[in-house]
Amino acid sequence: MSACTARPYPLVVDSARGSIIRDVDGREYLDLAAGIAVMNAGYSNPEVKAAISAQLEKMIHCGCGDFFAEPPVKLAKKLEELSGYSKVFYCNSGTEAVEAAIKLAFWKTKRQGLISFYNAFHGRTLGSLSLTCSKARQKEHFPTIHTAHSHYAYCYRCPLNLEYPSCGIECAKELENLIFRKELCPEDTAAVFVEPVQGEGGYIAPPPEFHKEVRRICTDNDVLLVADEVQAGCFRTGPFLAMENFGVRAEISCLAKALGGGLPMGAMFAGRELMDWPPGIHSNTFGGNLLASAASLATLEFLEKEYTEKRVKELGSYMIRLLGELQESIPCIGDVRGLGLMIGVEIVKPDKSTDPILRDKILREAFKERILLLPCGDSVIRFSPPLVITVEEVDLGLEKFENALRRTVR
Ligand SMILES: Cc1ncc(COP(=O)(O)O)c(C=O)c1O
Repeated sequence: MSACTARPYPLVVDSARGSIIRDVDGREYLDLAAGIAVMNAGYSNPEVKAAISAQLEKMIHCGCGDFFAEPPVKLAKKLEELSGYSKVFYCNSGTEAVEAAIKLAFWKTKRQGLISFYNAFHGRTLGSLSLTCSKARQKEHFPTIHTAHSHYAYCYRCPLNLEYPSCGIECAKELENLIFRKELCPEDTAAVFVEPVQGEGGYIAPPPEFHKEVRRICTDNDVLLVADEVQAGCFRTGPFLAMENFGVRAEISCLAKALGGGLPMGAMFAGRELMDWPPGIHSNTFGGNLLASAASLATLEFLEKEYTEKRVKELGSYMIRLLGELQESIPCIGDVRGLGLMIGVEIVKPDKSTDPILRDKILREAFKERILLLPCGDSVIRFSPPLVITVEEVDLGLEKFENALRRTVR
């Protein structure tokens, strides 16, 4: 396998159930990262497995660009019900969903400029990579589409050195006051892409007014807003779409990761009047794949029925409270933040600067405790467990996290 994917953990997985992964030697690990925010319905979910098995017996694949089939159509109905968007384009990953959104925005507006935010991650194919702005290394030697970047509401490290709420969400206003004036005219901007909660860039949850202000600016300047819900969507923050937390509706939304219940599945959504591009303008081979559609429908039905917004939010607040208590006695925890079960713990030096070396040591100690955690941002540890995680598992996971932390800093 290519060395370009990092694989920093000495873990060879064998099987999994709920929130627990078992390795080839029979050791068990509590997965507090859900396979990069994918396994929201838990590993080996019986309802998802049953739906996959039933579809497996009938047919795995048909070219959904050529033929009709029930699973993708049933899924489209469920997605319309959950998201309110009447049209969906299927693909196989987050980056493809974002590429589809870029193309739809270009096609619809006949404009070719894009805007995204610092610390954003939207994928690694050339279009989505143009929007990604979390690590310069990810873009080294790769050509990109013309994209301007604006500041996100990273309150712990306010890029404008202001304090919330007296700041008046000046960071969002930069879009209008700076970017549209100095970098890219609204008349040349096809769309603004934004994550409801920044994921790979550091699990950064903005204050409630941020997205409202971005929405207002897009509307006032006649620019499309695209919500990249690839990591924050699918009930991870409580509601189906994370933008619902902010009372904001984007013209286009993108989903992937948890959408397929572990099978590759991505989707780009918009209203009928926006997604009126003609047949042949965009397509693919595997979009709407029968097995992935069946898995996705079962996953969404399960999550909708069992894992309510209330539960995800309560469990998230509980984790933030426990991690906040840890912060009081462990100074290297600079910030604890999040929304629902998307929680970031920022590791810092005494002067509050980032400490990626210490962060990585903590992650290695956590692995020895047999909890699986992933890094994000410059110096952040992310918690994005399966939504089926139990309170007992959360308690155990955080106890092990505390052991790992104390061992590292002592
Ligand atoms: C917000 C966001 N968008 C897009 C992507 C890209 O998704 P994929 O890795 O499935 O291409 C990711 C992946 O982490 C993501 O977090």
